[in-house]
Amino acid sequence: MKIIMLGAPGAGKGTQAKMIAEKYGIPHVSTGDIFRANIKNGTKLGLEAKKYMDQGLLVPDELTVKILLDRVAQPDCERGYVLDGFPRTIPQAEVLDEALNKLGDAIDYAINVEVPDENIIRRMSGRRACVSCGATYHVEHIPPRQEGVCDKCGQDLILRDDDKPETVQNRLKVYHDQTKPLIDFYSGKGILRTVDGTVDMKDVFDAIEAILG
Ligand code: AP5
Ligand code: MG
Ligand code: ZN
Repeated sequence: MKIIMLGAPGAGKGTQAKMIAEKYGIPHVSTGDIFRANIKNGTKLGLEAKKYMDQGLLVPDELTVKILLDRVAQPDCERGYVLDGFPRTIPQAEVLDEALNKLGDAIDYAINVEVPDENIIRRMSGRRACVSCGATYHVEHIPPRQEGVCDKCGQDLILRDDDKPETVQNRLKVYHDQTKPLIDFYSGKGILRTVDGTVDMKDVFDAIEAILG
């Protein structure tokens, strides 16, 4: 099964993608997590990506597409995957389509997690992320057992650099300008499914399970 998660920054794409990955036994592939791991390790890619991410801008398609295509060519992706944060522009979606087409393959579902802008900023300021394993928490909704420490791996939790309110505003603008057109793109292919992302995360997942079966 090949799934794409669509939605504004902070809509809960990552939260739901992890639950899907676990239930269906497929890898969770997040371009944002890949970039953050590279930033943490000080790679050339990380340095380049950080320039854009810190401003809430998109990393150029040339860089992003290559990384994603390399990742989904790995053996663990043979049985499918859930993409979180990719594609984010029409050109990215077209490249992915073409690459899958060549393999006689296609995306099964694009799941749009819908959350109004008003809810987003509140959510982001409460988010805490583990830079080591990618787990995410929320100081009110999903607190870690011990403040500031990851339940899963024991490493420190951080407030992401791009979760400052000014940067979140930019990310929302970029989402509306460049990513939202993907809703029509996948709707036109008949594979778009929309779920309400404002309800409890378990209820969001129930709605997704009803779609995926
Ligand atoms: P990326 O890491 O993808 O960030 P994003 O799209 O802005 O999305 P987020 O990770 O912020 O939100 P999410 O939807 O995953 O929400 P989460 O589950 O954490 O990208 C970061 C940057 O990398 C981009 O700005 C760009 O620069 C670059 N980049 C990445 N991919 C790229 C690409 N393809 N092309 C170009 N550039 C790219 O949830 C948010 C919070 O809410 C959490 O605290 C969570 O616990 C909480 N929460 C979740 N669900 C609920 C719920 N139902 N109720 C209450 N709280 C909830
Ligand atoms: Mg995420
Ligand atoms: Zn961790």
